[in-house]
Amino acid sequence: MKAQHNKILITGGTAGIGLAMAQQFLAHNNTVIVVGRRQERLNLVCEQNPGLLGKACDVSISSEREELKRWVQEHHPDLNLLINNAAVQYNFAMLTDGVTGNDISQEVQTNLVAPVELCRLLLPILQQQPESAIVNVTTGLVFSPKKSAPVYCATKSALHTFSQALRYQLEGTSVKVFELLPPLVETQMTEGRGTGKIAPEQCAEALFRGLKRNQYEIPVGKVHLLRWLWRLFPVWAGRLLRNT
Ligand SMILES: NC(=O)c1ccc[n+]([C@@H]2O[C@H](COP(=O)([O-])OP(=O)(O)OC[C@H]3O[C@@H](n4cnc5c(N)ncnc54)[C@H](OP(=O)(O)O)[C@@H]3O)[C@@H](O)[C@H]2O)c1
Repeated sequence: MKAQHNKILITGGTAGIGLAMAQQFLAHNNTVIVVGRRQERLNLVCEQNPGLLGKACDVSISSEREELKRWVQEHHPDLNLLINNAAVQYNFAMLTDGVTGNDISQEVQTNLVAPVELCRLLLPILQQQPESAIVNVTTGLVFSPKKSAPVYCATKSALHTFSQALRYQLEGTSVKVFELLPPLVETQMTEGRGTGKIAPEQCAEALFRGLKRNQYEIPVGKVHLLRWLWRLFPVWAGRLLRNT
């Protein structure tokens, strides 16, 4: 997959890993559109990163996803790279933390339904381009879930499997399907939690390199090792991150 001269839409591109990816692609002659819920944040990052385009959309809401598709069709019919990056992570204990059905639904809609639906909605546009791709951002937790974020881990594992199956389905078309699997990264999502975090820019660089090499599954940092351990010792590796 080429890493230059693409038109790229990144959900959750106003902060953290998404913003680092936006900056990386922008610096290499790509047109980049970032999507987030908050207009003021979009305005700020577009002002700070000349050339960056912004579009407000809450990807967890079906009508907003449909509107995003219409906007892309009208203004960016040459879109050739969709990066499904936006996600939320809620940490809770099912028995004691009073989690509501709405909390669970919000997490599932944002992390799983939205990326799957955006694939469905934008594939007709992507497949018209000579070379195009979808990147789904998951996590090393797909190999070893942690007990504090059961719904997050479940949605990411589902997105991991979806990415594999969609990749098979789109063989022979112009659309490649990639998956980026970061380790613990220093962003708002992980504020106040964990140690040994890497910078979001390292994820952006890994994606950039992986795209150029057509490496469809791109484990970042420690996830390389975790994936090997999981292949060799699945039961043991599957428990490694349970208390992180
Ligand atoms: N941080 C880590 O350690 C880590 C590790 C492995 C994988 N990941 C994955 O990497 C991706 C990025 O994580 P991050 O840590 O960079 O997150 P982050 O810093 O919390 O940023 C999340 C981004 O998503 C946007 N967003 C959230 N909900 C949205 C919605 N419903 N609609 C549209 N935009 C939405 C946010 O902007 P608004 O709030 O303005 O909408 C923001 O731009 C996620 O898929 C995450 O699961 C992260």
